[in-house]
Formats: sequence, C-alpha cells, structure tokens
Amino acid sequence: PLVLHVLGARPNFPKAAPVVRALDSLGVRQGIIHTGQHYDALMSDVFFADLGLPEPIANLGVGSGTHAQQTAALLIGLEGVVLEHTPDLVVVYGDVNSTLAAILVCAKLGIPTAHVEAGLRSFDRTMPEEVNRIVTDSLSELLFATSPDALSYLASEGIDPRKVHLVGNPMIDSLFGALPALDPSPVVKRLGLPPRYAVATLHRPANVDSPEAARELVDAVLEVSEQIPLVIPIHPRGRTRLAEAGLVTSPSVYVIDPLGYVDFLSLVRGAALVVTDSGGVQEETTVLGVPCLTVRPNTERPITVSHGTNRLVTPALLPAAASKVLSDGAAIPAEELPVMWDGQAGPRIARVIASWLHGDNLAP
Ligand code: UD1
Ligand code: UDP
Repeated sequence: PLVLHVLGARPNFPKAAPVVRALDSLGVRQGIIHTGQHYDALMSDVFFADLGLPEPIANLGVGSGTHAQQTAALLIGLEGVVLEHTPDLVVVYGDVNSTLAAILVCAKLGIPTAHVEAGLRSFDRTMPEEVNRIVTDSLSELLFATSPDALSYLASEGIDPRKVHLVGNPMIDSLFGALPALDPSPVVKRLGLPPRYAVATLHRPANVDSPEAARELVDAVLEVSEQIPLVIPIHPRGRTRLAEAGLVTSPSVYVIDPLGYVDFLSLVRGAALVVTDSGGVQEETTVLGVPCLTVRPNTERPITVSHGTNRLVTPALLPAAASKVLSDGAAIPAEELPVMWDGQAGPRIARVIASWLHGDNLAP
C-alpha cells in the first residue's frame, strides 16, 4: 500500500513530521506532495531541514491568490498527482486551503483520507480555516483528534465515532523532538536582545488585511513594546499592511523575517510573554509554559485557555493584559499537559493507519 501526505503551508510541517517518521518505522511506503501554497524558503524549506522531513515526491507550485484562485489551482494540481500515484490513503493536516483541496479531490476520486487535527472548532465561519475544518472532517475516513473536546464536536456533526481516534498532538511531538536543540537562542544573540523580551506573531486576515484592523493592532502592540522589547518575526501576509500601520523596527521593536522552526521555538522558550494570533503558537506556549495573549475573539484551541497559559484579548485590552502578565512574574509552570500531549501522537496515528491499511476492524 501507498500513503501520500499532502502538505502546503508552514503549520503543516511540524504536524506531519512525527507521522511520517512513525510510518517509516512501521515500513509503510509513503510520499509527500508539497502543494507550494507556501514557497518562501523561510516558510517551507527550513522546516524540511529542521524537522528532518524527506524531500517531496512532487511540488505543485500553486503559490498565492484569492481563495478561489488558490483552491482551484490546488484542485487541478492535486487531482493530477493523485491520479498518477493512486495512493491507498491520503493524509491531510490542519485547516489550510491545501488540506481542503486534497480532501475534495480524494472524495471525488474515491480515495480514502485521514485528517490529522480533526474536530477543532472556533464556531466562527468568518475564519476561512473554520470552513476548511468542517468540510475536511465531514469527508474524512479516519479522523485524528488532538484534544477530547473535538470528540463531542465531531459527534454533534453526525460523524461516526468509530472513525475518530483521540491520539494527542503531533505538533507537540515535534516540539519535544526539538527541545534539546533549543538553547541558547541564536536569535537572541544575533539581535543583541536583553534577557527579558517578548515575541509577537500576527497573520490572521481579520487582524492584518484591513488598514483599520492593522492600525488598531499595531497601536496596541507598540504599547506593549513600551513595557518590554518585542521581537516580531513577520509572516509575509502582514508584512506590508502592518508596516503601513506603523510597525517598524525601533529600539524596542525588532521586526524580522519569519524564523526557522528551531530558531523560533528557541526565541519563544526564552520569552517572558508571547502575543499571537497563530493556532500552533497557542499550543506550543502551553507546553513551554510561556504566557500567551491571543489577539482573537475566539479560539479553536480552548484547551490552551483552560490550561492557564493562554488568554484571549482584544487589541484594546492587550496592553493592560501584557502589563499584568509581566508584573505577575515568572512563566507558568508546565504542570499536567493536555491529555496525550506526550510526544507519542505520531506513533499512535501511524499504528491506526497501519492497521487500517491491513484491513483490520478498528471499531471499538
Ligand atoms: C495560511 C492558512 C492559515 C495559516 C497560515 C500559516 C489558508 C486559508 N490559510 O494563511 O490558516 O494559519 O497559512 O502560516 O490556507 N506569502 C508569501 N510567501 C509564502 C507564502 C505566502 O509571500 O511563502 C504571502 C502572499 O502574499 C500570499 C499571502 O502571504 O498572498 C497569504 O498566503 P496564503 O497561503 O494564501 O495564506 P496565509 O495567510 O499564509
Ligand atoms: N513558526 C516558525 N517561525 C515563525 C513563526 C512560527 O517556525 O517565525 C512556527 C510555530 O512554531 C508553529 C508554526 O510555525 O510550529 C505555526 O504556524 P503559523 O503560526 O504560521 O500557523 P497557524 O498555526 O496559525 O495555522
């Protein structure tokens, strides 16, 4: 049997690496299709190197565009490559457009799919990712959930619970794998940062696409930088808009290119505070015990909030929330982590896939 993994955007890579590695150790034949949704070296190549991912067997080079343009290019490119390789199973990750397109292509070709990170819900359909999650979950044959709340969401959408497996979080497998490489942060040295600093990442369309939203966010972020030096590895999506809104390098603001995986996590681990609108960063700060303020009205990862490391804030509330985190002092100790965030999600997923490929009955 052949398993293909469809990857395209930055957050896909740390989720896939542990699954690919674990399938390899079970001797499963597999290959990676890179859609090319993300293509800058710092958004893609560096992750293959840092995470030890094998070279893709194909890169579709779809690039950027409107949702319709990008999804259309993904559908056409993926249909061709899937027909060429006739996989027995296609594995997709997270909630990006590459994930959605792969699911649609496979559903129409009658090729079974597995979704890693199933059942996350923000209940906010203005987020493109929420639409991708709902469609992806509804069409997947195997669904791998990272947290228990996902199980009830999937059940309430009528998805057969026998398809769903709670396996933990493979992104956290990657984080644990990277820990020995994390200290000391070369970025701290390169930038000449003081020991106490904060990190921000911002790229959600609702935050960076309109000049008004960007301005409100930048004003809030600059207020944070009056309290603590702030490093902002900037996602290409927000680069221009946030700069136009005034987010530029100054003595207390370090606007830099996106960082590689190990560099970024090193920086985060040493931070007194993280400000973000990323999905994955909410989870990584939970495991690293770094206080995180998420500038969003909702999160599909509520476990990071109930755990205690993450808090949702509006731009207007960000400066005061940051000030409280900074005066409360030390990082939150990583006590009990969410269930099965133990570095073994990849092997769990691989075992389910391997038995599925051998036709075993996985019903409980
Ligand atoms: C995508 C995902 C989002 C995820 C994010 C992670 C969708 C709908 N969105 O958003 O869920 O959180 O990736 O990073 O799939 N660009 C570059 N170089 C690149 C890639 C993008 O310059 O290598 C720029 C282009 O101007 C492009 C813009 O970023 O138009 C947006 O890229 P796109 O992949 O469409 O969406 P993201 O905002 O990256
Ligand atoms: N990340 C990185 N360098 C950066 C910013 C983020 O390596 O400059 C990593 C981060 O550690 C996490 C992943 O990228 O593993 C998250 O991707 P992103 O925030 O782009 O997407 P989201 O999780 O919001 O979909």
